[in-house]
Amino acid sequence: MQAAMEREGYIAEPAIATAVHLARTMRKPLLVEGDAGVGKTEIGKVLARILDTELIRLQCYEGIDVNTALYEWNYQRQLLRLRIAGTEDRDPAQTEQMIFSRDCLLERPLLRAITRREGPPLLLIDEVDRADDGFEAFLLEILSDFQVTIPELGPIAATHVPYVVLTSNRTREIGDALRRRCFYLYVEHPSPEKEIRIIRARVPEAMDGLAREIAAVMQALRGRRLQKAPGVAETLDWTRALMSLQLDSLDADTVSETLGCVLKDHHDVQDLTAHDIESMLAGARSASGADG
Ligand SMILES: Nc1ncnc2c1ncn2[C@@H]1O[C@H](COP(=O)(O)OP(=O)(O)OP(=O)(O)O)[C@@H](O)[C@H]1O
Ligand SMILES: [Mg+2]
Repeated sequence: MQAAMEREGYIAEPAIATAVHLARTMRKPLLVEGDAGVGKTEIGKVLARILDTELIRLQCYEGIDVNTALYEWNYQRQLLRLRIAGTEDRDPAQTEQMIFSRDCLLERPLLRAITRREGPPLLLIDEVDRADDGFEAFLLEILSDFQVTIPELGPIAATHVPYVVLTSNRTREIGDALRRRCFYLYVEHPSPEKEIRIIRARVPEAMDGLAREIAAVMQALRGRRLQKAPGVAETLDWTRALMSLQLDSLDADTVSETLGCVLKDHHDVQDLTAHDIESMLAGARSASGADG
C-alpha cells in the first residue's frame, strides 16, 4: 500500500499505509483526523485512484441536511407529471405512484454511493466535523446498514458497500459511536525527511537544497506558537511560488516577501521579526548542510 500510494504521489509512512490497507481489506470506514493541510482529503482521493474506482465526495458544512446529502425530489418533473395526469384524469393512487417513482429522485452523493452499479465507489465524507450532531447520527445509521429508507418508496439497500473515508479537522468532537464504527487514523505534520520527500514528489523541479531549506523553515515555523500552523498545502504553495520566482535558495528578504504563501494570520505575520527569520534560516542552512 505504501508503494501504491507513493506511485500516486502520496508519501506515507507505514502507520498511514497500514491504516489505509486495513480499512480497505476489513471494509471499515476510515476516519482521518489532523490539523489543516496535513493531507487528509488526499488520502481519499489517492485511495480511489489505487482502487481504480469513482470518487464520490460529500463535502460537509454547517447546516448540511439530508436533502443535500442523500436525495431530493425532482420537483419540475413531478409537476410536469402532475399536469399530464390532470389532463388524463387518472385516479389519485396512480398519480401518486407516478410522482414518487425512482426516476423522479435526484440522487445526492450518499444515495449515489450506495446504488452505484459498476462496483463499490470510494465515498469521501469530507470535513465531517463541520456538520452537526444530528447529521452525524444520520451518517452513522447509513454507515451501519448501507441502506436508506425513503418514506414514499421504502428501503433502498446498497448494491455494493462503498469504501468510505471520513475526514475531520476537529473543530467539533466526533461522537464515540461514529468513531467506534471506523478505523481511526491521526495524521501528524510531517517530519522534515517526509516533507522533503513530499516536495520532491509534488514539485520535482525544485532543487534538493531548496527543498531541504523549505522543510527546515516549515519545521521551525510549526515550532512557534502560531494561530494557524501551516500544513503541507502551504509548503507546496510556497515551493511553487519560489520556483516561479526562479529562486533556488532562501534568504531573509525572499522569506519575508513570500511569507503570505505560508502564514495566513495577521498576528502570526506580525509576530515574526526579521531576527526570527534570520535565525530560522541559519538553522535551516545548518540542517540542510548537515543532512546533505
Ligand atoms: N503525504 C503527502 N504526500 C504528497 N502530497 C501531500 C501529502 N500530504 C499532503 N499533500 C498535499 O498537500 C495538499 C493538502 O492536502 P489535503 O488537501 O489532503 O489536506 P487536508 O488535511 O485535507 O487539509 P484541510 O484540513 O485544509 O482540508 C494537497 O495538495 C496534497 O496533495
Ligand atoms: Mg481536506
